[in-house]
Amino acid sequence: MEVVINRDYEQMSKVASQIVVEVVNTKPNAVLGMATGSTPLGLYQELVRLHKEEQLDLSRVTTFNLDEYVGLRMDHPQSYHYFMREHFFQHVNIPRQNINIPSGTTSNYPAFCEWYEQRIAQCGGIDLQILGIGSDGHIAFNEPTSSLSSRTRLKTLSKQTIDDNARFFERREDVPVYAITMGVGTILDARKLVMVASGKAKAKAIAQAVEGPLTSMVTASAIQLHRDATVIVDEQAAAELTMRDYYEFIYAAEPAAPRS
Ligand code: GLP
Repeated sequence: MEVVINRDYEQMSKVASQIVVEVVNTKPNAVLGMATGSTPLGLYQELVRLHKEEQLDLSRVTTFNLDEYVGLRMDHPQSYHYFMREHFFQHVNIPRQNINIPSGTTSNYPAFCEWYEQRIAQCGGIDLQILGIGSDGHIAFNEPTSSLSSRTRLKTLSKQTIDDNARFFERREDVPVYAITMGVGTILDARKLVMVASGKAKAKAIAQAVEGPLTSMVTASAIQLHRDATVIVDEQAAAELTMRDYYEFIYAAEPAAPRS
């Protein structure tokens, strides 16, 4: 695992966007796994800028989002469909038919989840999966005690996640209790993982995910099993890492590492 510590959110977003660009430049028809939450917003803004100002072409890219709230229609302002359209898809040139986001309103969840997994496989698997992290250490909506080999399925949100996400809704009671989410196993199948985290509220979760024991209590710790995972954090999110000097030493020694 590589850990990249940045001075602030902006730099963290730029470093993460460069990894996406490298993947797309190497493989123009790459399959990208997309994440929601406020943390990847800067990364999406940077990709939009690169598309508009520096001819980043995403016309052959296919995307799969990690998760969606159950019960929210696509046009609900807190749905992940809405989030992705507003903040990313409407600003870039990914063909509509190449965009996949779990349905929060299907009439048959098990069948949909199975189809989603098959669709990922039919597209050749995910080349690069972008990840955020919940304050309880979850990835996507894989809450504590989720199986580390879980696949796309329905999941009940934890109290902590409902509390964390209540800020986006008018009332706490409006936060959906269920979500449809890729499993930890689905995420680990991606060829490359990039996790972004910012702010002191994530410091503990990042330390547990990167340096703690592998445990389903912190599903983000499963990235320790992955052969190509990069964790990109800002100063505050890095605050509880004990091996910081080592990560900085490795990064500084990389000939191709961006140094700005
Ligand atoms: C939700 C999403 C996760 C995301 C997390 C953190 O739970 N399902 O994918 O990582 O929120 O979001 P934020 O970046 O807003 O802290």
